[in-house]
Amino acid sequence: MMNKEQIEFEKKLAGEKAAEFVKDGMTIGLGTGSTVYYAIMKIGEMVKQGLNISAVSSSNATSELSKSLNIPLTGIDDAEKINLNIDGADEVDKNLNGIKGGGGALLFEKIVAFKSETNIWIVDSGKLSGRPWKFPLPVEIIPFGSSSTLSRIREKNFMPELRKKEGKIFLTDSGNYIADIRMEENRDLEATDKELKMITGVVETGVFIDIADILIIGQDNGTKILKK
Ligand code: 5RP
Repeated sequence: MMNKEQIEFEKKLAGEKAAEFVKDGMTIGLGTGSTVYYAIMKIGEMVKQGLNISAVSSSNATSELSKSLNIPLTGIDDAEKINLNIDGADEVDKNLNGIKGGGGALLFEKIVAFKSETNIWIVDSGKLSGRPWKFPLPVEIIPFGSSSTLSRIREKNFMPELRKKEGKIFLTDSGNYIADIRMEENRDLEATDKELKMITGVVETGVFIDIADILIIGQDNGTKILKK
């Protein structure tokens, strides 16, 4: 088990490595979370030194951080394409499939990812795992009729827990709720995704399959890069 400093060290290594993939003239996607934070900080330094890019943000938090560093932002529908997207993940397997949404930005992150030519994920070494998936699967549901939606999720033998923050229901940037779902041992991620998305009221799941092209893993002695 790694301590907090080791985890931060690995996140920083992975984040800064990803920034090396950013080149002049690119439109980049910026994910959300504490690992992407390090990539954004590095990109901010690069912009200060003259790097010319524009960025599509996946959350209010990322937009705020990017603005504070003078990283030029563009709306997703104003960008013709996104050359490179940098995002974190909560759990990843060796085939570069995984679970995202621990920070609640999964919907925008998925939309940004699908518009991106190349997707880089950055993680600390503790995030490598996969089947059986351990991280509770975040599922975004609309508030309207959420108790019925949660019941229907339960009827499918999933165990959803409505996400709360500081005693209040957590709201995504779209004003939706998140149900964190414990998965049975060995449950197949793709089948789970399909089953959940058939339920009316479910907006999106944190299942990210066939999206990441490059995985950068921070380790105690540097970074390891896996490619699809
Ligand atoms: C947010 C996400 C994040 O990418 C994921 O939760 C990883 O975050 P962190 O780098 O803070 O561990 O999917 O919705």
